[in-house]
Amino acid sequence: MVGGMDLRKVDSLASIAEAEDLDFSRLLDRPRLKIERKRSFDERSVSELTVSGNLRQVDSYDSMYSLGTMRSVLDTPGSSAPNPFDPHPMVAEAWEALRRTIVFFRGQPVGTIAAYDHASEEVLNYDQVFVRDFFPSALAFLMNGEPEIVKNFLVKTLHLQGWEKRIDRFKLGEGVMPASFKVKHDPTRQTDNLIADFGESAIGRVAPIDSGFWWIILLRAYTKSTGDLALADSAECQKGMRLILALCLSEGFDTFPTLLCTDGCSMIDRRMVSSSTLCWGTHYLWNEQTLQGIYGYPIEIQALFFMALRCALTMLKQDTEGKEFIDRIVKRLHALSYHIRNYFWLDFQQLNVIYRYKTEEYSHTAVNKFNVIPDSIPDWIFDFMPTRGGYFIGNVSPARMDFRWFSLGNCLAILSSLATPEQSAAIMDLLEARWEELVGEMPLKVAYPALESHEWRIVTGCDPKNTRWSYHNGGTWPVTLWLLTAACIKTGRPQIARRAIDLAENRLSKDSWPEYYDGKLGRYIGKQARKFQTWSIAGYLVAKMMLEDPSHLGMISLEEDKAMMRPPIKRSASWTI
Ligand code: GLC
Repeated sequence: MVGGMDLRKVDSLASIAEAEDLDFSRLLDRPRLKIERKRSFDERSVSELTVSGNLRQVDSYDSMYSLGTMRSVLDTPGSSAPNPFDPHPMVAEAWEALRRTIVFFRGQPVGTIAAYDHASEEVLNYDQVFVRDFFPSALAFLMNGEPEIVKNFLVKTLHLQGWEKRIDRFKLGEGVMPASFKVKHDPTRQTDNLIADFGESAIGRVAPIDSGFWWIILLRAYTKSTGDLALADSAECQKGMRLILALCLSEGFDTFPTLLCTDGCSMIDRRMVSSSTLCWGTHYLWNEQTLQGIYGYPIEIQALFFMALRCALTMLKQDTEGKEFIDRIVKRLHALSYHIRNYFWLDFQQLNVIYRYKTEEYSHTAVNKFNVIPDSIPDWIFDFMPTRGGYFIGNVSPARMDFRWFSLGNCLAILSSLATPEQSAAIMDLLEARWEELVGEMPLKVAYPALESHEWRIVTGCDPKNTRWSYHNGGTWPVTLWLLTAACIKTGRPQIARRAIDLAENRLSKDSWPEYYDGKLGRYIGKQARKFQTWSIAGYLVAKMMLEDPSHLGMISLEEDKAMMRPPIKRSASWTI
């Protein structure tokens, strides 16, 4: 098993989570050393952080990803690029298009609208500033030395978080961040007002779980890129972070450290889950376990959650309130990484293990802990799985595994070091081995494979936008180019990113920067895709800038956490006999 996370091995070991928690509680009580605070934020090992008591120090990323080091990586023989530093004419065009989308509030730039598509008759909510859509725009501005818009955005959205949020008669949690906002100009009074959507206007009336996480990750990127510690240190930002964290670190009935999510709460903001009725009369239509989708514990959100927790850890102050959250984050990170690295990971060996699972096991000795029925493994996975490579599957909950590939979750797992270095390398191996399926003619499919016919009917609720190989259902989203590029640079494989960027450069500008592409190979402009979709434009710019100057990676990447990587403690001999 590539990641060294063999479930069989894990099962024969002592309760690692328990052992590590004990270890950690000891660490948390140790005296704190005072270490001088440096200019940039850093992401150190969880144990180092808690021991040192200083969460902001040494910028080791800059040394690790210094331009010199990365230039030598870029020169690897595998790179097809004649000269990766040549400016492409599309870059200037993209900057111009991106600047057209900037939204001003009382004269200050505060974000970018989702799409600037004049040809489209339906505006819907594409004239709003979406938190998730602004993320790649923000990175582009930061990388270009224009942090002002990012700072304004962070402050404005923080202000919106303070609003009372209601859906009908139900009040939402205090920490919920908006999915999007809009600036309304009143020409008579000559004033600007903000209108925000926390899910009460969204299709399906779902609050965005991802917004708060993107906000925390962006705050770190801003701080890391500018060295401006004052914003993150401010009482308002500290409180904003704590409110977001309070929503996802609360205790309840959960037996898993992963976050339970509803459909439509993230980039995939429509129903992609099975209905509760899976039988039609007396006939099962298909395997129940293939029908999970987003509802449950989607990797997209789990990876984002993990990354946001790690980012928050670098920024939270060690005051009375902050310290309580730091302690909870440390414990959660341990449990979360253990759970995902073990139970979400799939490669050839692990697939074979699941294929031979016994069911109805009871007690602590169970190998098939979640009672996954092997017959529920979908047929496609057996051909899809290469001998070399692996990935984090879409969703894991009792007796349900969604074996689909999700791009965002896997790339974020690499960037946040949720994936071990071996797992990261294996994800890249899989991408290379299954390039035709996952990339085809345009990077990158949001999910693979598509749900068809009956499955589409039940999982998407007959959603006409989510037909097979379209939109969220196996559609291709150019915005993912920045995530792929960052993951490639982090794993030392820039040549893969170059290949993907080449594909994007063949079509993106000619096709007027579509929101998404359709088809098995991503050859067709999406049926209902907007043109001049902002995050398609910004995603391209970020990918280009990162490849040109890999030191930019530091603002959206976290180093591996040595404490989480520690080999599990073995059982004593008496246990194994
Ligand atoms: C669509 C996408 C969503 C995005 C929004 C604005 O609803 O599914 O992820 O944020 O458009 O572009």
